[in-house]
Amino acid sequence: TQAEKAGYEHFMIKEINEQPKALADTLFPRIHDGKIDLTDAGFSDDMIEGIRKIYIVACGTASYAAQVGKYVIERLARVSVEVDAGSEFRYRNPVLEPDMLVIVISQSGETADTIAALREAKKRGLKVIAITNVVGSTLSREADAVFYTRAGMEIAVASTKAYITQLLALYMIAMEVGRIKGKLADEEYARLLKELERVPELSKEPMEKKKDLQKLASQRYMDQHAFYIGRGLDYAVAMEGTMKIKEVSYIHAEAFSAGELKHGTIALIEKNTLVVALATQADLLEKMMSNIKEVKARGGYVFAIVQERDAATVADQVDQVFTIPNVEDLFAPMLSVIPLQMLGYYAAVSKGCDVDKPRNLAKSVTVE
Ligand code: G6P
Repeated sequence: TQAEKAGYEHFMIKEINEQPKALADTLFPRIHDGKIDLTDAGFSDDMIEGIRKIYIVACGTASYAAQVGKYVIERLARVSVEVDAGSEFRYRNPVLEPDMLVIVISQSGETADTIAALREAKKRGLKVIAITNVVGSTLSREADAVFYTRAGMEIAVASTKAYITQLLALYMIAMEVGRIKGKLADEEYARLLKELERVPELSKEPMEKKKDLQKLASQRYMDQHAFYIGRGLDYAVAMEGTMKIKEVSYIHAEAFSAGELKHGTIALIEKNTLVVALATQADLLEKMMSNIKEVKARGGYVFAIVQERDAATVADQVDQVFTIPNVEDLFAPMLSVIPLQMLGYYAAVSKGCDVDKPRNLAKSVTVE
């Protein structure tokens, strides 16, 4: 109803605006004495020490959160991570060993393929941690341990605030696994935690620049195709960004790792093709700039998302720049995804789509 939307036109934009609170509610109650405390999520040194490999299984948007998680866990904890869709994992006869941990991610905790994956992992004797937003959901009841995201009820079919808290959960898990396994020095852990504590506040900033995204969306909502490119973490965020614009505005969008673009997909770049380029990572910026030049040389229209510190460097090489506040590079996904959510939202509004209930989609898919 109107009252539940609290003055917003749609649940999706209300939920986008609730992200700073969702992040804060998920993060701060789990920080005690300068340390992340995941005992409520079943974490103990004993449980983590022997783990050699992690499987993350999820569907849809949650599986794109998993892509970020893979990168972050491998980076901070030096444990190799494999990501699988629930519908693949359950029928693939995956190679599972006793020293593996399975993490399943699901906003609703009721997605049939994710539940089936959890059951398969448990049947094979593995420990399963669930990241879910719904207390008492099937996943929460059947998992060995549960990390509850505290996003609050999510109503729009397109997931926004649940996704961002799933990212946060994975960051916290990565830092804890890294610390317990001795891969993350105390000083670095403390520095990262301090940075992480700034993220909820910083995440308010992209919403203040909604006019830029409304304008781009109003120019682009009739587009047939768009390409989202990035490297590393930016590539993982690009995947979620394309999902947002596809599901609510029905614009076909594809995410590519920027370095792979030249191996085929660049053939699709024509004059004025929209290319959303994420370049938030300092160590990859130069490489991204050369990919952006390749796109510009074919006449593509480049909308770049960068950290404020790089805006001046990038501005004259692209068509439009959107800046996110400066932040530790590792945490940039929690800020850079917000303009992508808003671009999808405003494109759908411009097009007159049923934003909160897109055609053919359900909030949670409880059948196969
Ligand atoms: C459906 C929804 C998606 C969601 C996916 C997984 O397909 O339309 O938005 O990402 O299910 O949902 P879950 O509740 O498991 O996170």
